Amino acid sequence: MNSNHWQIPGHTNIPILVYYFPSLESTNSEAKRLVVEDVPEWTVIYADLQTKGRGRFNRQWHSPAGLGLYFSIILRPNMDLKLLNMINMRAALVIREILQTKLTQTDARNDRPVMVKWPNDVLVEGKKICGILLESEVVSQTVNSLILGIGINVNHQRQDFPAELRERATSLTLLTRRQWESSQLLNEVLPKLQQQLILDKEAGYSDVIPEYQKNLAFKDQIVEVNLQNERIKGRLKGIDSYGYLMLEQGDEIKTITTGDIGI
Ligand code: BTN
Repeated sequence: MNSNHWQIPGHTNIPILVYYFPSLESTNSEAKRLVVEDVPEWTVIYADLQTKGRGRFNRQWHSPAGLGLYFSIILRPNMDLKLLNMINMRAALVIREILQTKLTQTDARNDRPVMVKWPNDVLVEGKKICGILLESEVVSQTVNSLILGIGINVNHQRQDFPAELRERATSLTLLTRRQWESSQLLNEVLPKLQQQLILDKEAGYSDVIPEYQKNLAFKDQIVEVNLQNERIKGRLKGIDSYGYLMLEQGDEIKTITTGDIGI
């Protein structure tokens, strides 16, 4: 790998190795290339700029230099596919909590809850501040490796977002009226997430769903859910024990395994 790299002291003895690139097409694509080369888990690819940042459902992730935090974590969980959602939901919850603390510490108006939007976005006042793209390699129902790609809007001003996102996206700077150092935020997120995922595994992932429900955006509201090829409407009732969405339509509760809620 041709880049700067460093190790982050964690709360565990599993090293977190961060590889920094000034520019990449996509940190997820670079991680995908490395995952087959047997790099250890908790290898992290971090870039200042992505030229082809990717979002869920083949969407683009706008990734200009100096504004966002773009990184991908390689994990080798060797877990049942049914538990896969626990990882991305936990990642959203850890980021939610870190952003909430920053808002509370810097904001005189200390009343803005940071929420999670199913399945793994983080929102403030209904606007997206973080998105997660999870790509996994599954063999006979076991997740061998996965790439957790995370994008956080850090130093964006309103005009830095493409016009179509201005009403739907926010950033840490817009919320706190100060600039943030993306690499410091990264150094904060990684050890917390690692420690939490280890605790979750020991606890059989029992705390993830209740914590997620508590912080879930649009609960009991009518929402539009984007599926692969259609959009459906219903009342968001929460998530089930696998992290699937429960949507009420008339007398029926529909379980949705893949999709996302529109904003
Ligand atoms: C989404 O909300 O649709 C997911 C967005 C994920 C964006 C991040 S930025 C770092 C990593 N590399 C990518 O190309 N995408 C993810």
